[in-house]
Amino acid sequence: MRKHIVAGNWKMNNGLIQTESLIAELKTKQKTSDAEVMIAPSFTNLWHAFESTRQHDIEVVAQNMHFSEKGAYTGEVSAGMLKSIGIKTVILGHSERRAYFNETDESLAKKVDTALAHDMRVIFCFGEELSDRKAGNEEAVVESQIKNALFHLEADAFKHIVLAYEPVWAIGTGETASPEQAQDMHAFIRKTLESKYGHTVADDMTILYGGSVKPNNAKEIFSKPDVDGGLIGGASLKADDFYAIVNAF
Ligand code: 13P
Repeated sequence: MRKHIVAGNWKMNNGLIQTESLIAELKTKQKTSDAEVMIAPSFTNLWHAFESTRQHDIEVVAQNMHFSEKGAYTGEVSAGMLKSIGIKTVILGHSERRAYFNETDESLAKKVDTALAHDMRVIFCFGEELSDRKAGNEEAVVESQIKNALFHLEADAFKHIVLAYEPVWAIGTGETASPEQAQDMHAFIRKTLESKYGHTVADDMTILYGGSVKPNNAKEIFSKPDVDGGLIGGASLKADDFYAIVNAF
């Protein structure tokens, strides 16, 4: 079923002390919307974050994982390790992972398979670069990112996937896609899903928008019919801003 979700991607921010205090502050906030709330702290703080949100309406999710079950992959974290501390959702394919850590459609397809094999939910990110949009190629780029990493899956698998459209040019730049640009792309994403998996899979898919979502623009972006929530970077590091976005629905 389609849901409203607001997920905070903390990226490489917040040590243990800051994680503790931000979570303590988040727990004081009142949720007045129906959005599911998620936060994605760094690996070192996942266990603490998980423990301290146990009785609370906040899901702690991971920012990444490796596709292998275990082995000689120094510095990596497996799905099994995440599951062993209670983490049930993982963000995969963030543009920063693609750009700085050589993640490809092919490696992401493997990560998606591994996560699903571990009964995890995947927040799968994709989005075009500024040069793609300037050349009018944004739909072709997004279509190929989705097809290459996800179209080997059976329809049923999509119940465990959330899509996050994050145009690279809008991430951390303060320049957000206009609500119309977000809506157009989200409708295109749904059409792409429908062409392979049919109406129900497409209509049930939760599609988040990410890229400079702030308290002052969230309401308008979330008012679009095909935008089901947001993946929030910078603004998720401030409890007031984050909950203003959560409550923008
Ligand atoms: P900003 O909200 O800082 O632009 O980051 C968006 C993002 O990359 C979330 O994953």
